[in-house]
Amino acid sequence: MPEHTDVDLDSSTNRWMWAGVVLMALYVLAFPLYRFYEPNARAEARQLQETHLQAEGKSLYADGCASCHGVDGEGIDAPALNSKQFLDSAVVDQIIALVSHGVPGTAMAAWSVDFGGPLTSEQIRAVAFYVDSWREDAPDRPDWLEPGAEPTP
Ligand code: HEC
Repeated sequence: MPEHTDVDLDSSTNRWMWAGVVLMALYVLAFPLYRFYEPNARAEARQLQETHLQAEGKSLYADGCASCHGVDGEGIDAPALNSKQFLDSAVVDQIIALVSHGVPGTAMAAWSVDFGGPLTSEQIRAVAFYVDSWREDAPDRPDWLEPGAEPTP
């Protein structure tokens, strides 16, 4: 009978409508939670990646750079890199660029495979992040460019 069907249809439509309302309310409630946790997760992932890069950079630095720049970046016959003055003058992107290209005409070779060196761009990033990690407590080294020179009186 038609009336019978209408009642059935009504209650079914109501049920679906309520299901929709409940679902929408769940989305609305969940969204701020998502907004709250998602950036944290991203920041944590970035932090983790940087820590990982620095660990890789540390071993690349020991193998490739320490012989000239010193185990702790104190400089031997190449500039000290662990120097407040040097690090204040260079952001990490500049370190990446310099290590990639090298300094033509000096002992500082180009390290990037793009310029005939041995390191991939990911490895250059790693070693640059490692040098950059000294930034926070880099010692005062105004003579960083000539670490072997006698200090002027
Ligand atoms: C054979 C020696 C040698 C090795 C190995 C070497 N460097 Fe150098 N590096 C130099 C010299 C010399 C300079 C200075 C070039 C100049 O006169 O401008 C220099 C300059 C730099 C500078 C710029 C410093 C400044 O104050 O302008 C950075 C950064 C640097 N090197 C990073 C590295 C990193 C990272 C590695 C390892 C991947 C490395 N170097 C390996 C000799 C070396």
